[in-house]
Amino acid sequence: MTVASPLGSPWPAHAVRGADGAVRVAGVDVRDLASAQGTPAYVLDEADFRARARAWRTALAGAFAGIGAETDVYYAGKAFLSVAVARWAHEEGLRVDTATGGELAVALRAGVPGADIGLHGNNKSDAEIARALDAGVGRLIVDSLGEVDRVVAAVRARGDGAPPAPVMVRVTTGVHAGGHEYISTAHEDQKFGLSVAAPATGGDSPAMTALTAVLDHPELRLLGIHSHIGSQILDPAGFAVAARSVLGLRADLAARTGYLVPEVDLGGGFGIAYLPGEVPLDPERVAKDLAAAVDEACATLGTPVPRLSFEPGRAVVGPTTLTLYTVGTVKPVTTEDGRTRLYVAVDGGMSDNIRPALYGAHYHAALVGRPGAGRTVLARVVGKHCESGDIVVHEVQLPADVAPGDLLAVAATGAYGRSMASTYNHVPRPPVVAVRDGSTRVLVRRETEDDLLALDLG
Ligand code: LLP
Repeated sequence: MTVASPLGSPWPAHAVRGADGAVRVAGVDVRDLASAQGTPAYVLDEADFRARARAWRTALAGAFAGIGAETDVYYAGKAFLSVAVARWAHEEGLRVDTATGGELAVALRAGVPGADIGLHGNNKSDAEIARALDAGVGRLIVDSLGEVDRVVAAVRARGDGAPPAPVMVRVTTGVHAGGHEYISTAHEDQKFGLSVAAPATGGDSPAMTALTAVLDHPELRLLGIHSHIGSQILDPAGFAVAARSVLGLRADLAARTGYLVPEVDLGGGFGIAYLPGEVPLDPERVAKDLAAAVDEACATLGTPVPRLSFEPGRAVVGPTTLTLYTVGTVKPVTTEDGRTRLYVAVDGGMSDNIRPALYGAHYHAALVGRPGAGRTVLARVVGKHCESGDIVVHEVQLPADVAPGDLLAVAATGAYGRSMASTYNHVPRPPVVAVRDGSTRVLVRRETEDDLLALDLG
């Protein structure tokens, strides 16, 4: 099921253009929002967020119930986390996946019980591990052999009678996926997790070594195996390949030790639409295909199906948000191939959306404060930062009369937008404003120059 927006994909579900040509999101006129909150601002459609969270939870629960397996969905807070958003996710029946002590602090501040939080990280500090144990997190996802010892030490430091730490071991299956790319070859030359491949010199795979090391320690309780294959995945085939690999490892571990881990986590990575016409992964379809793949793999291996968990971030929050900017300057240029391109500079840029500069990511934009001329021109939306790579939207058709003072929105900026924002050039970070049923609520306030100067000790 895809949540359709009246404004069309990739806009938030409750974005509509009124008869006067101005856009309302969840009943809030963007012109009113801009005058009350200023621009730039991230505008988040709360009901869309909740609906997407529910869609993933119910699709996965339903499909896996069909093969007799229970599921948990963890909202990956790295995509965007605030106290309110963590609370919404939890209210919608999701748990929260955190990647650092900072994200853990937000989830705890939101009142999410420790038991419903997972902590990731390829280089967790001892303080982060201790804090996670203090909070009683439901799972620590161990990312290296060295971390096994450090978690053991942290449990011992809590004294006699401390409960064992619930851990999963993060493995790399050799499946690496992302964007439209799907490469089912060894892709282990990266920092995360422990490889399931046995070394060429013989002996156990790093993943097997870590799993047996966990079982050797009474301070640890081995919950399961974790695999995350990539992000913005639009071809779901890689998930099934990774699932088969992880389930095979689970069976091997059971054959070797007699212990069948109860859980398997298949991570996040479900792709969304950034541009009109792009087809996002559909929760129902993904859930159905994955459940079938898990069922078949377990039948072949002769093992019962485990409890499954998933960690969508982008697919829950990405499409729910637009960034509202004000146009400052407009400049036509002639491109090398003789076309005219209009540079439309807005009051934000790479500080509020680094993805185009970092990944060459493409976005869609539209004038939202008025209808604009019927004729369109080729435009490039750029920011206010002091480098030419400060591009927000590489290519988009905008009304030919786009002018300074116009409100312009960029779609699908909810994931890895505010969460990766910086204060480059001492540009304070924009607020995140939730809209719902005609009212607005500031979730994260606008940063001020005073906030930035407060860090500067002179
Ligand atoms: N679980 C784990 C272990 C992860 O590493 C990630 C993302 C997720 C879940 C959530 O993935 P999602 O469902 O959001 O795709 N900054 C990049 C994305 C980095 C993703 C890192 N890990 C971007 O802006 O595209």
